[in-house]
Amino acid sequence: MNICIINGSPRRNGNTAEVLKPFCARLLELGTELDEIFLMDYTVSPCLGCYTCQNIQDKYGCVQQDDAWKVWNRAGRADLLVLATPIYSWYCTSHMKALLDRHYGLNKYYGTAEGQLIPKLRVALLTTHGYKADYANDPFETGIQRLCRHCHWDYLGLYSVRDIDGLPDMQTPEAIEGAEKFAEELMEKMNVSRETF
Ligand SMILES: Cc1cc2nc3c(=O)[nH]c(=O)nc-3n(C[C@H](O)[C@H](O)[C@H](O)COP(=O)(O)O)c2cc1C
Repeated sequence: MNICIINGSPRRNGNTAEVLKPFCARLLELGTELDEIFLMDYTVSPCLGCYTCQNIQDKYGCVQQDDAWKVWNRAGRADLLVLATPIYSWYCTSHMKALLDRHYGLNKYYGTAEGQLIPKLRVALLTTHGYKADYANDPFETGIQRLCRHCHWDYLGLYSVRDIDGLPDMQTPEAIEGAEKFAEELMEKMNVSRETF
């Protein structure tokens, strides 16, 4: 089983990366292969809203020759995509938002082209945030649930840790065990949904 994990934090060794450590370690123990992407290592520009991609069949078709397709192509080959991000202004970071907006080239819904380049994908979220979990996560989680519905993808759930004092909050037994448990829950859901996927 291949799992693609995209970390959208601008901080390579920040809180989100810290929570990913026990999560990824448990996934590896469970026998998965990981494809980890630190999004800041790639150039993914904001969507220009030109709709050119909607008239190009069977290809991503974006006028911008950056890394967006490279990243989406890796995500699309995975059995599960984990979007890991700090919550910024009640959503993800702008780096991850640019990538999410650039899903447009994947779905030919609005022009002469038809079809989807990634017709099936399972998606899960891992976030860190300053506010209490529900208040911090609700808008982003709702947005991703709706994006998944729009793309006909499966949304599998969210794990998050609150940042009050920085890294030590990510290193508590509760935060670590929560991340490990989330990895186990995702694998259980994957094994169930594999039959229907
Ligand atoms: C620009 C910016 C915006 C933020 N907006 C929010 C927010 O809307 N809600 C929240 O709960 N935390 C917010 N935070 C706090 C971060 O989500 C939190 O510190 C997170 O753990 C940082 O993760 P990182 O170290 O991986 O970058 C914000 C932080 C920054 C720098």
